[in-house]
Amino acid sequence: MTGRVQDKVAIVTGGCSGIGRATARRLAEEGAKVAITDINQAAGQSAADEVGHGTVFMAHDCRDEQGWDEVVRGVVERFGGLDILVNCAGILGTGPTRDPMETTLEEWRAIQGVNMEGTFLGCKAAIRAMVAGGGGGSIVNLSSVAGLIGTPLWAYGASKGGVRLLTKSVALYCARKGHKVRCNSIHPGLIDTPMGDQVLNWLYDDPAKGLADRERLVPLGEVGRPEDVAHAALYLASDESRYVTGAELVVDGGYTIY
Ligand SMILES: NC(=O)c1ccc[n+]([C@@H]2O[C@H](COP(=O)([O-])OP(=O)(O)OC[C@H]3O[C@@H](n4cnc5c(N)ncnc54)[C@H](O)[C@@H]3O)[C@@H](O)[C@H]2O)c1
Repeated sequence: MTGRVQDKVAIVTGGCSGIGRATARRLAEEGAKVAITDINQAAGQSAADEVGHGTVFMAHDCRDEQGWDEVVRGVVERFGGLDILVNCAGILGTGPTRDPMETTLEEWRAIQGVNMEGTFLGCKAAIRAMVAGGGGGSIVNLSSVAGLIGTPLWAYGASKGGVRLLTKSVALYCARKGHKVRCNSIHPGLIDTPMGDQVLNWLYDDPAKGLADRERLVPLGEVGRPEDVAHAALYLASDESRYVTGAELVVDGGYTIY
């Protein structure tokens, strides 16, 4: 099928890398007009060019509230509205984390700032634009399996658990207000991206052995690809999921089955 999000307008944060980039590509392939945003200005234009289909790049730190207004205004002016927001921007931490007892308050706050506060600001800015446009929309927030089960990554897990419940609260608020804005979360397991590599490098003395151990714990026997998550985001972004809101879509090869 093609044109699953034909002529819809989408913002994908963290769109220069990994899951964000793959999601932007799938949305653009299916007919959306896409703006990717990222704090990484150096990679921005080449990422937009690689995604193709007229995708534009806008430099933005997702923690910057005023910047959110500028991004959303710029996208509405350029493309005529906003239908989809995929909050992909995220960080694992600010340095290798083996013992969570060594997490500093500074690091804790840095992680909540990007993962949780950035998502909160994005939801607010998108809801305003989607309501003003009159047609509603779909917000997709990247949480993690670390937002569902305990892991050694205390601050990261707390931020992703926060994203999970923020998503449900946003979904409930919008439904009760009659805003026609849906909001759902995605919970990937280990995915082969730069952040996925960071997980292996930070948590295991021998990352290659860590990968093999991890794959043994995944019922489907392998780590995921960015495209596996992008397909899930596309579904939640599209009208195919019109009756789905406040849901958590787990994309983990069965890692959290047990
Ligand atoms: N890769 C995994 O194994 C995995 C698993 C579960 C959840 N996730 C989540 O999926 C999302 C995407 O992860 P990924 O693996 O593609 O990571 P990635 O590191 O490949 O990409 C993250 C992107 O976010 C951008 N970013 C970081 N801080 C930002 C900020 N303040 N403002 C704007 N952009 C910022 C980075 O520059 C980068 O381009 C994240 O929220 C992550 O927590 C990833």
